[in-house]
Amino acid sequence: MKPLGSAAVLGSGAVGTALLEELPKCGVRVVAAWTRSSGLMPPPLAGADVVFLAVPDAAVARLCRKLEPKRGQLVVHLAGALSLNALAAAKREGARVGSIHPLRALVRGRSQDFRGAFTAVAGSDEEAREQLSDLARRLGMTPLLIADRSRPLYHAAAVLAAGGQVALFAEAVRAFRLAAGTSEEEARSALLPLALGALEKLRVMPAVEALTGPVARGDRATIAAHRKALPKDLLRLYDDLTRASERIGRERSGNGT
Ligand SMILES: NC(=O)c1ccc[n+]([C@@H]2O[C@H](COP(=O)([O-])OP(=O)(O)OC[C@H]3O[C@@H](n4cnc5c(N)ncnc54)[C@H](OP(=O)(O)O)[C@@H]3O)[C@@H](O)[C@H]2O)c1
Repeated sequence: MKPLGSAAVLGSGAVGTALLEELPKCGVRVVAAWTRSSGLMPPPLAGADVVFLAVPDAAVARLCRKLEPKRGQLVVHLAGALSLNALAAAKREGARVGSIHPLRALVRGRSQDFRGAFTAVAGSDEEAREQLSDLARRLGMTPLLIADRSRPLYHAAAVLAAGGQVALFAEAVRAFRLAAGTSEEEARSALLPLALGALEKLRVMPAVEALTGPVARGDRATIAAHRKALPKDLLRLYDDLTRASERIGRERSGNGT
């Protein structure tokens, strides 16, 4: 396997900027960078071993159709939910294609790296998968090979763990404010240590051991009191989470399903 030594980065948002900063630190020369706000067409890419399409998921296939990759060059997207079909135009031109999706929430305008994150890797051939796994390790990540057919499920799991968590927390803040009459900021400050403490436990133990609350204690009376007190539009979410907690509880008592 020939390690990737040079790259072109198309797009300069959250991920594009992090790539531009981090690739040179792990020995990858950035030979071309492009962003649409330049008003120009993407630059010639011939000198790059790998071309990263660091643009929104919806723009990947369209941008890919505008490229003229050279035969054997590796064209890569960074989208968790997209299959390699999004890069079909590059494949038709004789390029190899792949994807690397860092499991990290990056935001624009901040200096960020990839260290410590897991990352889904896919590639159209064995060497592409090996080269991207090697690059992931050099960037400080742990690569995981995810089959194309499993990508939507893999990405759904990632969304539940990040955005889903934030949405759930926002609903907890809403209920807390109804009860305590605080500002949104105060409610966040009150609940955040609780939420972070619960998540922190997952570093060292599985959910089956980390679970707390009335379901874990088998306290039906408290669950009934919560259901009576909650606003109607939160009941469904509460009941779904109760069922999920019960499922975890059954694992604890050794009779899952
Ligand atoms: N952010 C994350 O946490 C994260 C994590 C893992 C993977 N990803 C994936 O990484 C990729 C890039 O995401 P991002 O968060 O870096 O996005 P982003 O911050 O929104 O940046 C997107 C970049 O693409 C450009 N762009 C927007 N629409 C375009 C178009 N139609 N054609 C060409 N360029 C266009 C933007 O230009 P302007 O600046 O002119 O708008 C910007 O430079 C996505 O596939 C995303 O799923 C993101």
